[in-house]
Amino acid sequence: MPTEIVQWLGDRSPRVIVDGTYGGGGHSALLLNALPPGKGHLVGLDRDPAVSERVESESHDPRLNVFLGSYEQVPKALAALDLTKADGALLDLGLSSDQLADPHRGFSFTRGSAELDLRFDPESGESAAQWLAWHKEDEIANAIYQYGEERFSRRIAREIVARRRREAAVKRVEDLVDVCKRCVPRSKNHDIHPATRTFQALRIVVNDELGALERTLQSAPDWITDHGRLAIISFHSLEDRIVKNAFRDDPRWKVLTKKPLRPSDDEVNQNPRSRSAKLRVAERVPNAEQQTTGSA
Ligand SMILES: C[S@@+](CC[C@H](N)C(=O)[O-])C[C@H]1O[C@@H](n2cnc3c(N)ncnc32)[C@H](O)[C@@H]1O
Repeated sequence: MPTEIVQWLGDRSPRVIVDGTYGGGGHSALLLNALPPGKGHLVGLDRDPAVSERVESESHDPRLNVFLGSYEQVPKALAALDLTKADGALLDLGLSSDQLADPHRGFSFTRGSAELDLRFDPESGESAAQWLAWHKEDEIANAIYQYGEERFSRRIAREIVARRRREAAVKRVEDLVDVCKRCVPRSKNHDIHPATRTFQALRIVVNDELGALERTLQSAPDWITDHGRLAIISFHSLEDRIVKNAFRDDPRWKVLTKKPLRPSDDEVNQNPRSRSAKLRVAERVPNAEQQTTGSA
């Protein structure tokens, strides 16, 4: 939904825009055109070291600065440029096509021999294989159920732990795909791979994806200017629910998209991965403060 993003974030003559999930830089390239010619700042962040390394090695618009780190660190990135607030920010959640295509990251089922890593930043925290190596069966089952909404989570967790006991722990993509194929009956119309939900769950866990999103929705009103906008593209119902509820329940936000915007058929044809995308946009309400007591 590139046109919509540029419209929502660009129509109030922004001078500072944050792209919290820089990825391949596609959105940033468009958002640079929303800044005044030759002026302003596009502040990019990404947790993936490959992203900042690539940007450093390329020549780019001097208005663009890309930092390595979670979008939770926007205030730090702004401060590094002597800025305190942004007029607009974009979070395009999930993983990039570069990450999916990378044979070493473990994101793609087709790269069976890859280590089961699934971290956006492979240099910090623990990989999915390490996480599965020491958690209890019920913790694994709960995570797969909660973050993957996988009905067969218990069976999958039992099989993962059984393999661990047989000293054949799940370490590679193909190991987990095999577990899922054994434990998840094929869906009637074969529209979803048996490992999809489990991979989603483990990716969410090892990257603390929902925690990062919740904390950022909570803190963003402090670093977005009055009437500044926050646009979020989510790819599954867990993320979308968090965004929808935060925008609706926090008086510091005014919701600009009553219903989430969806990609056009053309966009889905060109980029099938966009089919589940939902875009929500909210505006920072001036002088509104967060209520400290819970509302009914
Ligand atoms: C869907 S891609 C973004 C694509 C980008 N909008 C573009 O036009 O190329 C999501 C990116 O967000 C990054 N990411 C995920 N969680 C993050 C976080 N908490 N902070 C910063 N980047 C994150 C991933 O590493 C990935 O590169």
